[in-house]
Amino acid sequence: MRVACDVVGQASFGHDFKSVDFSDARVIKVLPKGLEECQKRMTNPIQRLLTFTKAAKEADACMDEYNSIIRGVVMEMKARGPPKADDMSVGAQLLRAKHPTTGHGLTDRQLQAEVGTFIMGGFETTAHTLSFTLFCIATSPGVQEKIADELRDMGLLNADGSLGRPIQAEDLNLLSYLSNVIKESMRMFPVVAGFPRRTDKVTQIGNYKVPKNVFVYILFHHLHNSPDLWDNASDFDPMRWEGINDPTYVQDDYMHAHHAPFGGFENFVGKTPKKGVEARPKKYFPFSAGPRSCIGQGMAMMVLKTVIATLCARFTMRLADEMGGPEGVAASEVMALTLHTHHGILMHCTERAPAAVEA
Ligand code: HEM
Repeated sequence: MRVACDVVGQASFGHDFKSVDFSDARVIKVLPKGLEECQKRMTNPIQRLLTFTKAAKEADACMDEYNSIIRGVVMEMKARGPPKADDMSVGAQLLRAKHPTTGHGLTDRQLQAEVGTFIMGGFETTAHTLSFTLFCIATSPGVQEKIADELRDMGLLNADGSLGRPIQAEDLNLLSYLSNVIKESMRMFPVVAGFPRRTDKVTQIGNYKVPKNVFVYILFHHLHNSPDLWDNASDFDPMRWEGINDPTYVQDDYMHAHHAPFGGFENFVGKTPKKGVEARPKKYFPFSAGPRSCIGQGMAMMVLKTVIATLCARFTMRLADEMGGPEGVAASEVMALTLHTHHGILMHCTERAPAAVEA
């Protein structure tokens, strides 16, 4: 959580939240609490009326504090003056953005909304994906060994178990087994487990006619774990991704038309379902799909690969007994805008070669 928070702050806005250095960094305390209440208000209309309860007041105070932290980030960005021409960070691009007709830049309020959404979208999601992936790595036989083999082949881990050379940006695209591991973990644990869309007209979805202005919740978690759509859906099998690059993954030999009342994701809405390959249901949406899909997915994959490769080069991992095995982890799953576990996932990390690391 701390790493993901500091990376998104520094890489996007040049702001160091210092949450890795200071255990009581406020942003990682207040945002998850605020989001928990958001989820309740999104799914239960009565919750919106219960603003007088202690929990609701605490959550509102958390969101106020989050907004004031974000105001601070924006003030810091502006205090640095106009961004340099070669600064391509998100913050610099927001400061440069101009309205196409009026030529006006973003107001402070608009900047705060953009920066707040980026930080919110970027850190919990990456952090929980990291936790679930490490959990899958620690509990799936043979996976740590295969990751270690790949790291050894690339010189990131030495044959005697000591650390190899530091990871570089060019290495990331070459970590193909690790990429498969991450894709598979995001299949089984899509931390954005579903996302709403509002119908802008009366819309036919399969056998259902949905009126205009209705929120339809698309459950990625269900699509990702359905035995109708995946062979051995409940097995963690990174090799199922070997050679598959389509981010929404259409299975080539998909023949179960009877399981699929509608065409592809893009055919959820529309009167003329497409034919052929395009009509096959797409089934993999860890970053959603379409024009509003995750804008930070490239960065998320960079962070995930870098952190996991670095940890696996140094440690082997074992799920802590207190978690009660994979069943205990499953029992502690909770959905509060993101899918995560109640109190994190505890692991034991053992250094591969302590003496070599110290030297
Ligand atoms: C594993 C990590 C991540 C996951 C699983 C994830 C997933 C998602 C999903 C499912 C959406 C919803 C898109 C939709 O409405 O269809 C989204 C939106 C968004 N994400 Fe991510 N995300 C991740 C990391 C990041 C990072 C690192 C950033 C920023 C640096 C980011 C920034 C955003 C923003 C700004 C949006 C809103 C886009 C819009 O409304 O146009 N995300 N993300």
